[in-house]
Amino acid sequence: MITSILVPYDGSQSSVRALELAGDIAAKYKASLTALHVVTGGKVPSSLEHFAEIEHLDDEDVPMALGERLLEDADRIARRSGAATVTTLRSQGDPASEILGKAADGIDLIVIGSRGLGELRGLLLGSVSHKVTQLAKCACITVR
Ligand SMILES: Nc1ncnc2c1ncn2[C@@H]1O[C@H](COP(=O)(O)OP(=O)(O)OP(=O)(O)O)[C@@H](O)[C@H]1O
Ligand SMILES: [Mg+2]
Repeated sequence: MITSILVPYDGSQSSVRALELAGDIAAKYKASLTALHVVTGGKVPSSLEHFAEIEHLDDEDVPMALGERLLEDADRIARRSGAATVTTLRSQGDPASEILGKAADGIDLIVIGSRGLGELRGLLLGSVSHKVTQLAKCACITVR
Protein backbone atom coordinates (compact mmCIF):
# COMPACT_ATOMS: atom_id res chain seq x y z
CA MET A 1 0.00 0.00 0.00
CA ILE A 2 1.30 3.42 -0.92
CA THR A 3 0.54 6.13 1.63
CA SER A 4 3.29 8.71 1.26
CA ILE A 5 4.94 9.77 -2.02
CA LEU A 6 8.03 11.96 -2.42
CA VAL A 7 8.69 13.87 -5.64
CA PRO A 8 12.04 15.66 -5.92
CA TYR A 9 11.36 18.71 -8.07
CA ASP A 10 13.87 20.91 -9.88
CA GLY A 11 11.54 22.45 -12.46
CA SER A 12 12.86 20.26 -15.31
CA GLN A 13 10.49 18.66 -17.79
CA SER A 14 11.05 15.18 -16.42
CA SER A 15 10.39 16.39 -12.88
CA VAL A 16 7.09 17.90 -14.12
CA ARG A 17 6.18 14.51 -15.59
CA ALA A 18 7.21 12.85 -12.32
CA LEU A 19 4.82 15.16 -10.43
CA GLU A 20 2.00 14.40 -12.87
CA LEU A 21 2.43 10.64 -12.49
CA ALA A 22 2.82 10.96 -8.71
CA GLY A 23 -0.33 13.10 -8.53
CA ASP A 24 -2.28 10.44 -10.39
CA ILE A 25 -0.93 7.66 -8.15
CA ALA A 26 -1.67 9.76 -5.04
CA ALA A 27 -5.29 10.16 -6.17
CA LYS A 28 -5.72 6.43 -6.78
CA TYR A 29 -4.11 5.34 -3.51
CA LYS A 30 -5.39 8.31 -1.45
CA ALA A 31 -1.74 8.95 -0.60
CA SER A 32 -0.10 12.18 0.48
CA LEU A 33 2.41 13.81 -1.87
CA THR A 34 5.45 15.80 -0.81
CA ALA A 35 7.34 17.87 -3.38
CA LEU A 36 10.92 18.57 -2.31
CA HIS A 37 13.20 21.17 -3.85
CA VAL A 38 16.83 21.25 -2.81
CA VAL A 39 18.48 24.62 -3.17
CA THR A 40 22.06 24.17 -4.36
CA GLY A 41 24.80 26.78 -4.37
CA GLY A 42 25.19 26.40 -8.11
CA LYS A 43 24.50 28.81 -10.89
CA VAL A 44 20.86 29.47 -11.80
CA PRO A 45 20.06 27.40 -14.91
CA SER A 46 19.97 29.56 -18.03
CA SER A 47 16.40 28.41 -18.66
CA LEU A 48 15.32 30.10 -15.40
CA GLU A 49 17.38 33.29 -15.53
CA HIS A 50 14.46 35.33 -16.87
CA PHE A 51 12.64 34.78 -13.58
CA ALA A 52 15.38 36.53 -11.56
CA GLU A 53 15.34 39.45 -13.98
CA ILE A 54 11.58 39.85 -13.79
CA GLU A 55 11.64 39.79 -9.99
CA HIS A 56 14.63 42.22 -9.77
CA LEU A 57 16.38 40.04 -7.22
CA ASP A 58 19.89 40.46 -5.84
CA ASP A 59 22.14 37.59 -6.88
CA GLU A 60 22.34 36.00 -3.42
CA ASP A 61 18.53 35.98 -3.03
CA VAL A 62 17.89 34.23 -6.34
CA PRO A 63 18.26 30.52 -5.37
CA MET A 64 15.88 30.77 -2.37
CA ALA A 65 13.28 32.84 -4.23
CA LEU A 66 13.51 30.50 -7.17
CA GLY A 67 12.99 27.54 -4.82
CA GLU A 68 9.81 29.13 -3.47
CA ARG A 69 8.56 29.84 -6.94
CA LEU A 70 9.30 26.26 -8.11
CA LEU A 71 7.42 24.83 -5.14
CA GLU A 72 4.36 26.95 -5.90
CA ASP A 73 4.39 25.45 -9.40
CA ALA A 74 4.90 21.96 -7.94
CA ASP A 75 1.91 22.34 -5.64
CA ARG A 76 -0.28 23.41 -8.55
CA ILE A 77 0.88 20.61 -10.86
CA ALA A 78 0.42 17.93 -8.19
CA ARG A 79 -3.12 19.10 -7.36
CA ARG A 80 -4.06 19.44 -11.02
CA SER A 81 -2.91 15.82 -11.49
CA GLY A 82 -5.18 14.55 -8.74
CA ALA A 83 -3.29 14.73 -5.44
CA ALA A 84 -5.52 15.96 -2.60
CA THR A 85 -2.90 16.23 0.16
CA VAL A 86 0.18 18.11 -1.02
CA THR A 87 3.09 19.38 1.07
CA THR A 88 6.01 21.36 -0.28
CA LEU A 89 9.43 21.27 1.29
CA ARG A 90 12.58 23.24 0.59
CA SER A 91 16.01 22.23 1.82
CA GLN A 92 19.59 23.05 1.07
CA GLY A 93 22.65 20.92 0.39
CA ASP A 94 23.47 17.94 -1.81
CA PRO A 95 20.25 17.04 -3.68
CA ALA A 96 20.64 13.24 -3.57
CA SER A 97 21.51 13.22 0.15
CA GLU A 98 18.62 15.54 1.00
CA ILE A 99 16.19 13.42 -1.06
CA LEU A 100 17.38 10.16 0.54
CA GLY A 101 17.22 11.74 4.01
CA LYS A 102 13.64 12.83 3.50
CA ALA A 103 12.75 9.44 1.97
CA ALA A 104 13.93 7.69 5.14
CA ASP A 105 11.22 9.59 7.01
CA GLY A 106 8.22 7.33 6.27
CA ILE A 107 8.12 7.68 2.47
CA ASP A 108 7.08 4.52 0.62
CA LEU A 109 7.44 5.70 -2.98
CA ILE A 110 9.82 8.14 -4.66
CA VAL A 111 8.84 9.39 -8.13
CA ILE A 112 11.84 11.16 -9.70
CA GLY A 113 12.70 12.54 -13.13
CA SER A 114 15.31 10.67 -15.16
CA ARG A 115 17.03 13.93 -16.15
CA GLY A 116 17.10 17.38 -14.67
CA LEU A 117 18.40 20.76 -15.72
CA GLY A 118 21.95 19.52 -16.45
CA GLU A 119 23.17 20.39 -19.89
CA LEU A 120 24.78 17.09 -21.01
CA ARG A 121 21.89 16.16 -23.26
CA GLY A 122 23.21 12.67 -24.17
CA LEU A 123 22.84 11.26 -20.65
CA LEU A 124 20.01 8.81 -19.95
CA LEU A 125 20.11 9.39 -16.22
CA GLY A 126 21.37 12.40 -14.27
CA SER A 127 23.63 12.02 -11.26
CA VAL A 128 20.86 12.81 -8.76
CA SER A 129 18.41 10.24 -10.12
CA HIS A 130 21.26 7.72 -10.48
CA LYS A 131 22.25 8.06 -6.83
CA VAL A 132 18.70 8.15 -5.49
CA THR A 133 17.56 5.05 -7.42
CA GLN A 134 20.71 3.16 -6.37
CA LEU A 135 20.47 3.98 -2.68
CA ALA A 136 16.75 4.40 -1.90
CA LYS A 137 15.33 1.86 0.53
CA CYS A 138 11.77 2.28 -0.77
CA ALA A 139 10.26 1.81 -4.22
CA CYS A 140 11.40 4.35 -6.77
CA ILE A 141 9.92 5.19 -10.18
CA THR A 142 12.10 7.03 -12.70
CA VAL A 143 10.09 9.12 -15.16
CA ARG A 144 11.39 10.07 -18.62
N1 LIG B 1 17.99 20.34 -6.68
C1 LIG B 1 17.05 19.39 -6.82
N2 LIG B 1 15.99 19.38 -5.97
C2 LIG B 1 15.04 18.43 -6.09
N3 LIG B 1 15.06 17.46 -7.01
C3 LIG B 1 16.09 17.43 -7.88
C4 LIG B 1 17.13 18.38 -7.83
N4 LIG B 1 18.02 18.10 -8.82
C5 LIG B 1 17.53 17.02 -9.46
N5 LIG B 1 16.37 16.60 -8.90
C6 LIG B 1 15.53 15.45 -9.31
O1 LIG B 1 16.35 14.51 -9.98
C7 LIG B 1 15.87 14.35 -11.32
C8 LIG B 1 17.07 14.09 -12.23
O2 LIG B 1 17.91 15.22 -12.22
P1 LIG B 1 19.49 15.12 -12.27
O3 LIG B 1 20.02 16.33 -11.56
O4 LIG B 1 19.91 13.78 -11.80
O5 LIG B 1 19.78 15.19 -13.85
P2 LIG B 1 20.62 16.27 -14.68
O6 LIG B 1 20.43 17.64 -14.09
O7 LIG B 1 20.21 16.06 -16.09
O8 LIG B 1 22.12 15.79 -14.48
P3 LIG B 1 23.27 16.37 -13.51
O9 LIG B 1 22.64 17.17 -12.40
O10 LIG B 1 23.96 15.14 -13.03
O11 LIG B 1 24.10 17.21 -14.41
C9 LIG B 1 15.06 15.60 -11.63
O12 LIG B 1 14.09 15.38 -12.66
C10 LIG B 1 14.42 15.85 -10.28
O13 LIG B 1 13.32 14.93 -10.10
MG1 LIG C 1 20.82 18.19 -12.11
